[in-house]
Amino acid sequence: TLPTRVKIVDVGPRDGLQNEKQPVPAAVKIELVQRLQSAGLTEIEVTSYVSPKWVPQMADNHEVMSGIQRQPGVRYSVLTPNMKGFEAALADRPDEIVVFGAASEAFSQKNINCSIAESIERFAPVVEAARAKGIYVRGAMSCAVGCPYEGEIAPERVAYLAGLMKGIGVQHVGVADTIGVGTPRKVQAAIEAALQHYELNDVSGHFHDTYGQALANTLAALELGVWQYDTSVAGLGGCPYAKGATGNVATEDVVYMLQGMGIDTGIDLNKLVDAGAYISAQLGRKSGSRVATALLAK
Ligand code: HMG
Ligand code: MG
Repeated sequence: TLPTRVKIVDVGPRDGLQNEKQPVPAAVKIELVQRLQSAGLTEIEVTSYVSPKWVPQMADNHEVMSGIQRQPGVRYSVLTPNMKGFEAALADRPDEIVVFGAASEAFSQKNINCSIAESIERFAPVVEAARAKGIYVRGAMSCAVGCPYEGEIAPERVAYLAGLMKGIGVQHVGVADTIGVGTPRKVQAAIEAALQHYELNDVSGHFHDTYGQALANTLAALELGVWQYDTSVAGLGGCPYAKGATGNVATEDVVYMLQGMGIDTGIDLNKLVDAGAYISAQLGRKSGSRVATALLAK
């Protein structure tokens, strides 16, 4: 049965902007976070504490995290690939951190410069330190259906990574279709693999829309009862280490679909469209959201 309520994590400020070639001013990122929370988003992935040589766009992590006006009831998450990143993040008091691994060995190397096994060794002390401080730990599982370097990824490899993450105390896993190649049944198989180690309440979907499948994949995940999704306002984004990957499914499109299905998100679609229009104008480009484009044309 379908969930009656869905929790959306807007990853636009992080996943959405990390791949922008031109530096986006911290003030714009802060304003985007402000508009997202005004629209009713209660979970926002704000930034990453990664190497600025690898992802220059996230170099302003401290400025952005310390510049946002936190609202009660809103949770702010950040990416931390290692202890160095975690220690820097700690000063900025995130509610949740994200360690990010991959189901594909080649993508792990390209994205975080280590093997899957090494990544787990690096994450372990991060997870331990975060949990000791009461910070919730999510694990992103990239390339859960397909990899830009290895092609199709078998569900067993997702199960394997989920098991490793469980073993080091990661509390929640996100099944990520990094390059948007997944189709509904394959995405369901990847989610079922994650469910071998995690409960339904601790699994989310993170679908990029490169091949236009993300909304269908979201519906497929809903059919399994998954009620937590990462989405990106205006469909912003792409991963710097996944060539050609476009943004996550647009938050506006997911909210519109869920509203039409009678599933509550707590998000005000009109205000969300405004937030998307703001960032699209700042970037000087059209929104990647079909719903926003349609509503703004009315
Ligand atoms: P490395 O080069 O192997 O790291 O990078 P290292 O430990 O050997 O250190 C090398 C240098 O980096 C040193 O500086 C460190 O201090 C520095 P130097 O002495 O040369 O001046 N360094 C750092 N600086 C700042 N923050 C840090 C940090 N760590 C080391 N945390 C590393 C390994 C993981 C750091 C690197 O590969 C990296 O930063 N990768 C980030 C990749 C990334 O951000 N990708 C995008 C996010 S993941 C994603 O988008 C997928 C997701 O959306 C789900 C999906 O769709 O699939 C989540
Ligand atoms: Mg992503």
